[in-house]
Amino acid sequence: MEDAQLYVSANALQRRDALVVLTEYLPQMVWQEEGEAVLDVGCGSGDVTRNLLMPLLPRVEQVVGVDVSTEMVNFASKTFQHNSLSFQHLDIERGVQPRNIFQLLQPGGEALLVFLARNPLFTVYQNMSEKTQWQPYMQDVTSFISVYQHKTDPAQAMMDAAEDVGFEIVSCEAPQFEFVFENINYLRNAIKAVNPFLKRIPRQQQDTFLMECLSELAKLKTQAEDGKTVARYNLMIAHLQRPE
Ligand SMILES: C[S@@+](CC[C@H](N)C(=O)[O-])C[C@H]1O[C@@H](n2cnc3c(N)ncnc32)[C@H](O)[C@@H]1O
Repeated sequence: MEDAQLYVSANALQRRDALVVLTEYLPQMVWQEEGEAVLDVGCGSGDVTRNLLMPLLPRVEQVVGVDVSTEMVNFASKTFQHNSLSFQHLDIERGVQPRNIFQLLQPGGEALLVFLARNPLFTVYQNMSEKTQWQPYMQDVTSFISVYQHKTDPAQAMMDAAEDVGFEIVSCEAPQFEFVFENINYLRNAIKAVNPFLKRIPRQQQDTFLMECLSELAKLKTQAEDGKTVARYNLMIAHLQRPE
């Protein structure tokens, strides 16, 4: 994700989901009296970190937001300054090996993993990558599709993976969420802001690519009769603990 400015203006779905999940799950986590160090992995533009996560934390000493995109980190550092908050560049997959989040936690430390388990947009990416015109720009499409997209029981698959790493599972579920996009312009911007392939496509073909993404999405019966688009997707919500 590279376009931070567009993302903050088109991330109502992500903000709604973050608020719902954080409100429910943060009170279930154990918070020490003296305050905690909190790491927000994949912090993006930083607005969720600063405006939703921080106000909901019971006791906090230091919050660090990290993201693989330097544009996101630069935008977040410039826009969301606070004494207890900093942003840094980190690719969590490669920067910390081999058990990334597990290894970053203190013994007894907790992680709340929240990410898209299943999403029609992943089907759109797959279908677009099979078209001759777009195939050259999407050869690594599978690395942008959730490994849980086609699992019959995504939560169980996540629990198995987390246990293999050494985590204790506090809870894990992959409930369905719905979000209504009121108009096509907002949907287009929301899709554009998170599209990992767009930058690779010659500028004069980018509008065509986005229009085709929207029509592939419409084929998945996401459009309501009143012109609104209803996104139905599953969020993985895993509350994990590194054993003492
Ligand atoms: C959909 S955005 C969510 C941003 C923010 N958490 C929010 O709720 O608005 C996902 C973010 O994860 C980042 N990301 C993806 N892979 C990553 C990795 N391996 N390490 C760190 N960040 C990553 C992307 O750059 C992107 O900014």
